[in-house]
Amino acid sequence: MRGGGSAGVPVESLDPETAARELARLAERIAHHDRLYHQLDAPEISDAAYDALRRRNDGIEARFPDLVRADSPSRRVGVEPAATFAKVTHAVPMLSLDNAFTPDDVVDFLARVRRFLGLAADAEVSTVAEPKIDGLAVAARYRDGRYVLGATRGDGTTGEDVTANLATVRGIPARLRGADVPSRIEVRGEVYIERGDFLALNEARERAGEARFANPRNSAAGSLRQLDPKITAERPLRFFAYGWGEVDGDLGDTHWQCLQRLKAMGFAINPMAKVCADAEACIAFHRELEAARARLGYDIDGVVYKVDRRDWQTRLGAVGRAPRWAIAHKFPAEKARTVLREIVMQVGRTGVLTPVAQLEPVTVGGVVVSRATLHNEDEIARKDIRVGDTVLIQRAGDVIPQVVAIVVEDRPKGTRPFVFPTTCPACGSLAVREEGEAARRCTAGLICPAQAVERLRHFVSRDAFDIEGLGEKQIQAFHAAGLIREPADIFTLRTRDGIGGPPLAERDGWGEVSAGNLFRAIAARHEIALERFLFALGIRRVGEGMAKVLARTYRTWRELRAKVEAAAEGDGEAVAELNSIDKIGDKVVEELIGFFAEPHNRAMLDGVARHVRVLDAAAAKGSATLGGKTIVFTGSLTRMTRSEAKSRAESLGATVAGSVSRKTNLVVVGADAGSKAAKARELGVATIDEDGWMKLAEG
Ligand code: IVH
Repeated sequence: MRGGGSAGVPVESLDPETAARELARLAERIAHHDRLYHQLDAPEISDAAYDALRRRNDGIEARFPDLVRADSPSRRVGVEPAATFAKVTHAVPMLSLDNAFTPDDVVDFLARVRRFLGLAADAEVSTVAEPKIDGLAVAARYRDGRYVLGATRGDGTTGEDVTANLATVRGIPARLRGADVPSRIEVRGEVYIERGDFLALNEARERAGEARFANPRNSAAGSLRQLDPKITAERPLRFFAYGWGEVDGDLGDTHWQCLQRLKAMGFAINPMAKVCADAEACIAFHRELEAARARLGYDIDGVVYKVDRRDWQTRLGAVGRAPRWAIAHKFPAEKARTVLREIVMQVGRTGVLTPVAQLEPVTVGGVVVSRATLHNEDEIARKDIRVGDTVLIQRAGDVIPQVVAIVVEDRPKGTRPFVFPTTCPACGSLAVREEGEAARRCTAGLICPAQAVERLRHFVSRDAFDIEGLGEKQIQAFHAAGLIREPADIFTLRTRDGIGGPPLAERDGWGEVSAGNLFRAIAARHEIALERFLFALGIRRVGEGMAKVLARTYRTWRELRAKVEAAAEGDGEAVAELNSIDKIGDKVVEELIGFFAEPHNRAMLDGVARHVRVLDAAAAKGSATLGGKTIVFTGSLTRMTRSEAKSRAESLGATVAGSVSRKTNLVVVGADAGSKAAKARELGVATIDEDGWMKLAEG
């Protein structure tokens, strides 16, 4: 065993302090070997050696029962099997939902739908209202009526193959009912567990000395993602169908009809679902459901409204990861009272200091909360939040818990207003607030270790380089050891391995297998899609959506970099061109220019470029005529609203720009067009009228 210390000392001779240290180390070592054994099927040590570790752990715990850790191997049930499921790519992405919190938000949602579709302000837009089940989304594929594949939602694009496990869930039929089932259909819905079943399951686990699940949702997720489907089969999981992915043929003209079709095929449909004719009906349903919530038997966290007409759903499409035709109307968040012990600063990747409340642990909505965000300096001042205060916190869904209010009556004597630091807690550099900004930022950039670590973390995160095995803990350790200081270092980790220090396989927490896996995971990322690469850079205001827009517009890293560098060097035309692209606001252009103007960012990019090939953005799928083209609309269209035309063009792979330039490929000229049509003629850019556009849009 590495990192020996007290390892050889007989248990009887250990003092409490050494025992505690050794228990911590044993917990980590055993967890490490568990992972190798269960997830990677690649044990590093013999069974006998493993048993010896566990025996020693048990021996120390028997002698020092007070020192048994929460994460002790003797209390742990098993390891998260995530790494071992095969991946499934969703042919149709599994979207998430935007949220509405107030009745006004619901009215606004319907108004947006009408505007987008060009309907009159009082036109009827029926929706189907369904309870929002608090479980996990899955997809079940059927071929000729037989169940063939089950997958979790994952990140919406790729999920895990849980075919055998999902087959055991009540409500997932092995064969579809009826004579005329589609030859191919993917049914989507929520796997959940009833509250009573969850409580019974937790009691049984407690009796067996196993860890309890925090809430029904976690227990449903944990139960479905078991390596052994026999265990899943023993768990009382259920399923409600509420949607579908790829389907051969048609399920119906309305969402409601489709739900009835799914029901006829043998799926459970939530019995509370109903058609609502207008916002009032939606809001009334939400009120009724909230009142009935406690009696339902399973957890729900709101109501989902879905535009009933499918042709309208198709026209509405999606923006980012959420459909325009549906919204989740959440229930008010659960609240709890506790005491604020301390306020600590977290330094983000762009240097923002975020105050975080350290709380006396309290259970909110079935989850123990001990930290909550305090947002920023103004928020603390506005609410006069002080250390020692009793605070009201809330937790809504998966979002970080927040402090909503303080209980002034309970304020102890002698507290003082909180003084926000003006220096960075990680590096001591000055932290300043820019005009008009709520955030205070550390000014040290990459010299600040906290910022450097956060940027690296972002660089390897799931939607960026997605390097498995390189999480927060590892990045921090590599950074502290000087092994990874900047992104390029990730790609030379292997060639430098063992030079000037022990090889990775011999470092704490690592072994031959895990080190090998990490090197392989890194090697697999020497090529990356342009949009992921842009997102990975962590430029302010360039999130995933913006990275996509940039990638689609410029197609190659070389062209994009050249354009922004030209802009950074004061080329007015380049700046104007960047600004002309619809969706890229001037704030984004400013950030891009700022990023590229910084010499150490350029050096970082050059470093990465030596190891990474950034792939050109693929020609957009679907349309040969519009894919990758920049298009400008001018004048008024009569058969589509401007928003719909834009969304249509984008879904065909085009970029919509607000003004005509040499880069424009096509100008759609509607009625009463003005200067943009003239500019197009002047520059020799192709133009079409509304009829021509409709033909393209249909293709
Ligand atoms: S519809 C395109 N309907 O909520 C529409 N989602 O925030 C996608 N959920 O990932 C989802 N009950 O896990 C829909 N009746 C319902 C739902 C529901 C629960 C979950 C689902 C989804 C999440 C989105």
